[in-house]
Order: sequence, then structure tokens, then C-alpha cells
Amino acid sequence: MGKPYHLFKYHCQDGDDFTVIAHRGASAYYPENTIPSFEGAIEMGADMVELDVQLTSDKEVVVFHDEKISRCTDGRGRIADYTLASLKKLDAGSWFDKDFKNARIPALAEVLKFCKDKIAVNIEIKTEAVNKMFFGGIEEKCLKIVEQSGMNGHVVFSSFDPRAIMHLKQIDNTAAVAVLFEKKHYGSKLPSDIMESLGTDAFNCSGSYFKKKWLADVELNNIPVNIYTVNDARNMKRFINMGVSGIFTNNPDILKRVAADIKQMQKSESQE
Ligand code: G3P
Repeated sequence: MGKPYHLFKYHCQDGDDFTVIAHRGASAYYPENTIPSFEGAIEMGADMVELDVQLTSDKEVVVFHDEKISRCTDGRGRIADYTLASLKKLDAGSWFDKDFKNARIPALAEVLKFCKDKIAVNIEIKTEAVNKMFFGGIEEKCLKIVEQSGMNGHVVFSSFDPRAIMHLKQIDNTAAVAVLFEKKHYGSKLPSDIMESLGTDAFNCSGSYFKKKWLADVELNNIPVNIYTVNDARNMKRFINMGVSGIFTNNPDILKRVAADIKQMQKSESQE
């Protein structure tokens, strides 16, 4: 029996331990990383929303994926060069559909307030916002915002940047943190070695990087594995049948249905 990795207290609505994670919200249907997208994920019954955080020029934590704002707003330039007030003037919805022209880039605090008592949150700290300081950096700011929002126990952090993971654990070793696997940082190490060296609580990996030969290692060591980003039913089924703990998807409605069908099938088989 491997190390008993602490399981996050998700708001799983159907009592099982498989996590439907809405990637940047229900982003197939709404502009990613906006309140309408998170609201859509809640309405579709997702267990968790995933979002990305970065810092503005006045050091506020905002929810946005790209380093540059042009793909998802009507502005130009880098997010880190704008104040929160100036970002708030941008239209963060029309690029997706003109019906969302009033959508704005949200601050992390706003999103956590919106999600409280409704859904768990995965906060991904973008590499662009990480530096070598651990006190005073984005990690400490996020931990404070989570604490102030009353969302402790319902938030898991993640990052591709090992520095962000180490900073979070150094500041608060009770924070739930998932590693986001990237070959350039971890090479051919096994998931259990990576987890052990960083002291993390879950292993998050792209569906195209996840190796079948890792299955024995994650099973033996009882490691929660979450796969991103899976939007089609066939691959959702494939990963659920492999035994993963959760899947990130832009289509949480499809994943809910696929997970429920598999559960029903397993129930019928066990009754035969
Ligand atoms: O956290 C899972 C997934 O979102 C990581 O990739 O590019 O969407 O940040 P990316």
C-alpha cells in the first residue's frame, strides 16, 4: 500500500470520488475564465472549475490564461502591463460571441466569492507570474485570497512551474497542490518520484503525455491522477476505465453523462 495522499474535499455532488473538472469553466459554451463560464459549469453539475491566475501591473491576482490579452479581449499587449482597473474596461466576451460583450476579466477574489458553497476550484498559477521570491509573490497572494474567501479545503492549486509548487508548500504545507507534468522539468521520472520530491497531493497530466506504463506506479502509490483536456466521449471513457481520479474538460455536460453511464454499467454488472 502506498502513501495515503490526502484527498481534496471536493463538492462531489453524486457521492463518488471521480472529479468532473470544468477547464476554464464550461469553456466550450462560454468565454473561458469568465463568470458566465464558471456559472455554466455549476449549472452543468461539474465538481470543480479550473482557472488560471496571473498578476496585473498593480500586483492584483486576475483570472486569465494567456500572457497576452489579444486572443480573449478587445485589447492588445501583455496582461502584466495593465492595472486591474484598466483590464476591467476590456470586453472579454465578444471574441467568443457578441452575446457575452459584457463579460469582464475577473479578479481571483471575485471568482472565489462566486464559487463559494457551489463548487470547488483548481487555481493554476501561470509560469509568467512566478519569480524566485516566495514571500510577496503570486503564491502568497493567492493563499491569502483563498483564506479571506472562506474557500480553504475547497481549493487545489497547480502549476507547471516547480518553483510555484515549492513556494506554496513552503508558505503553507497544508495547501492542496497538484503537479502539472511537463517533460522539460521531470524527464523520465516516475509520477511517484515527482510527487515524493515535491510533496504534492495529485498528479495532473495531459492525455497525450500520460503513459500506460505509469499506471502500475500510480496504482501502487495511490496517486490521484487528473487528465487534461478531454472533450470527446470516447477518450473520456478510455481514461475513466483506466481508473483516473478526474478529467479536465471544456464540456462538463458530456463528461457528467459519460461518467454516470459508466457508473450505471458497473452497478448493473455487479448485480448480475
Ligand atoms: O490544468 C490543466 C490544464 O489547464 C493545463 O493546461 O494550458 O490549459 O493551462 P493549460
